[in-house]
Amino acid sequence: MHILVTGGTGYIGSHTCVELLASGYRVTVIDNLSNSKQEALHRVSEITGCELDFVRTDLRDRAVLEALFRDRDFDAVVHFAGLKAVGESTQIPLEYYENNIGGTLTLCKAMTEARVKKIVFSSSATVYGDPASVPIREDFPICPTNPYGRSKRFIEEILQDLYRSDGAWNIVLLRYFNPVGAHRSGRIGEDPDGIPNNLLPFIAQVAIGKLPRLRVFGDDYATPDGTGVRDYIHVTDLARGHLKALEKLATDPGVVTYNLGTGRGYSVLEMVRAFEQTSGRSIPFEIVGRRLGDIAICYADPTLARTELDWTTDFGIEEMIRDTWRWQSRNPEGYE
Ligand code: NAD
Ligand code: WQD
Repeated sequence: MHILVTGGTGYIGSHTCVELLASGYRVTVIDNLSNSKQEALHRVSEITGCELDFVRTDLRDRAVLEALFRDRDFDAVVHFAGLKAVGESTQIPLEYYENNIGGTLTLCKAMTEARVKKIVFSSSATVYGDPASVPIREDFPICPTNPYGRSKRFIEEILQDLYRSDGAWNIVLLRYFNPVGAHRSGRIGEDPDGIPNNLLPFIAQVAIGKLPRLRVFGDDYATPDGTGVRDYIHVTDLARGHLKALEKLATDPGVVTYNLGTGRGYSVLEMVRAFEQTSGRSIPFEIVGRRLGDIAICYADPTLARTELDWTTDFGIEEMIRDTWRWQSRNPEGYE
């Protein structure tokens, strides 16, 4: 099986390439390197002992995409490529819509022409907005609260329309909760540009001494310790979910949607304490005001993925933090 992985040099994409290659898939990655380094793929090959093809291109370059699908015999696409920073999406919404939706349209047109009609798409728990209750099931209302989240919602709907227009398509929409951690080798991991937005990369940079202290965004939420609760999931568990999704595509499911989360939430302060224990470093923090757009609590009901994909998570919070710390301490400058 030959898989095209869009955005495959990125954080989740590179970890998924490891699992694909280790399971015997042939892999071609396309990426414009707008938020990643090609070095990640050299390390993927080093970890797996397998080669993969890389084509540097923007997903919106229709000529390149059409040529790629003409020249190669892809069986399915795993589609990660996209911009993902919530705050930035409120500043430059048109870039987000153009990149995320425009890229997906070009990809789907090229796939249609080449009659490759199997796709796994990276959606996000952010499509649920502020849920009325937890755990969150796939049939909960969809109401994203920012342009990034709306780009995911629109793409989900576009893919559903595509299936309605042509039942030969098979589409798996995966809604990730909060991906963290790194490959256990410590060779690949998350390499954010500049100051991280997300909690765990920020804590890791405090632990290594690159940032002075964590700012905890609010301790007055209706949660046990007042800080925000999230469903953190190890990136390797998440990556394995994509292999299960590819197996599902082979059963002709039409359009199916799955939450990929652990079903367990941790607060910001629980994450700080757990990181201190695992790393042996202290994490200074101060409580500041809430971050605009944040919600109190968000965790998945992963039952559907367990029953229909036969997917469960192997790693808990200790492994997530252990592997984040191994990656951060061995690669203080990321891939540089
Ligand atoms: P990432 O930024 O590390 O990876 C995305 C990759 O896509 C990058 O390598 C980037 O260079 C590439 N890319 C972006 N636009 C492109 C374009 N037009 N053409 C070609 N390549 C392009 O992000 P990630 O964390 O690995 O996320 C992967 C996917 O999962 C994204 O779609 C993201 O929205 C989604 N997602 C991520 C999270 C998260 O917290 N990391 C949570 C839910 C969903
Ligand atoms: C986690 C918790 C913060 C940073 C985001 C996107 C979501 C998805 C995953 C793509 C919250 C708190 C954080 C800090 C803090 N991405 N925090 N200080 O906001 O749940 O989700 O990433 O799809 O769409 O919105 O993740 O890691 O930013 O925050 O106190 O410096 O940590 O308030 O409670 P979030 P996060």
